[in-house]
Amino acid sequence: MKIEKEESSSVKIYNDADFKGLKKSGELAAKALEYIKKLIKPGVKTNFIDQAANKYLNDHGAFSAPLFYRGYMKSICTSINHVVCHGIPGDKVLNEGDIVNVDITSILDGYYGDTSKTFSVGNISVEAEKLLKVTYESMMEGIKILKPGITLGDIGFAIQSYAESHGYSVVRDFCGHGIGKTFHEEPNILHYGKKGEGMKIKKGMVFTIEPMINLGEYHTKVLQDGWTAVTKDKSLSAQFEHTVGIIDNGYEIFTL
Ligand code: MF3
Ligand code: CO
Ligand code: CO
Repeated sequence: MKIEKEESSSVKIYNDADFKGLKKSGELAAKALEYIKKLIKPGVKTNFIDQAANKYLNDHGAFSAPLFYRGYMKSICTSINHVVCHGIPGDKVLNEGDIVNVDITSILDGYYGDTSKTFSVGNISVEAEKLLKVTYESMMEGIKILKPGITLGDIGFAIQSYAESHGYSVVRDFCGHGIGKTFHEEPNILHYGKKGEGMKIKKGMVFTIEPMINLGEYHTKVLQDGWTAVTKDKSLSAQFEHTVGIIDNGYEIFTL
């Protein structure tokens, strides 16, 4: 008999009660994003969005997961233009024509909900508009194939082939992640890959899909602050993120 590699043994499997809790937390994170969307306009400081998001979570019985996470001192991430991810809110002001990703992770009753969207600030270029559209669609290409038995490589392949068919590149240095009763757990979800490669996914697994797609090259670097990741060539970068759970015949998106 062939010995199967137990690669997925360290990945947590969540039950129905967990799925209910994860959905509640995910929906709250999604609502927080919807709430801060109204605040995004030229002249607004990213700190203002940070405080509004934190208050929204607290007012709804939840906490921000990033706040005090590994020394991170803000409640959300705000990544503007060529910032790929982990932009730190501060006194920086949003300008007309910018794109800004807002990434919110809630902890509600011990369950994590992680979601992000890239918003436009006022009117943006046609080029930026197209990047946002294709980045969202790339995430959905990775989500719509989810069901027990497909592999992590299938997910990466779906995202990468879609993004690259539009002439964009997929960031390699950051990935999606298992999530549930902790913020980041196994497995890593790469947004590039080959069909059929990697671990098979199973019912009860919960993870994020959060592709970062660049107008230029995929290379990134992290700034002096130890968090802010930018494209090396300073090209525009966009990201969308959902938290999903695997069910019998497919998937459930928790962060709607
Ligand atoms: N929410 C981010 C993610 O999608 C992680 C942010 S960690 C922080 O995984 F500390 F930078 F906030
Ligand atoms: Co995430
Ligand atoms: Co996130």
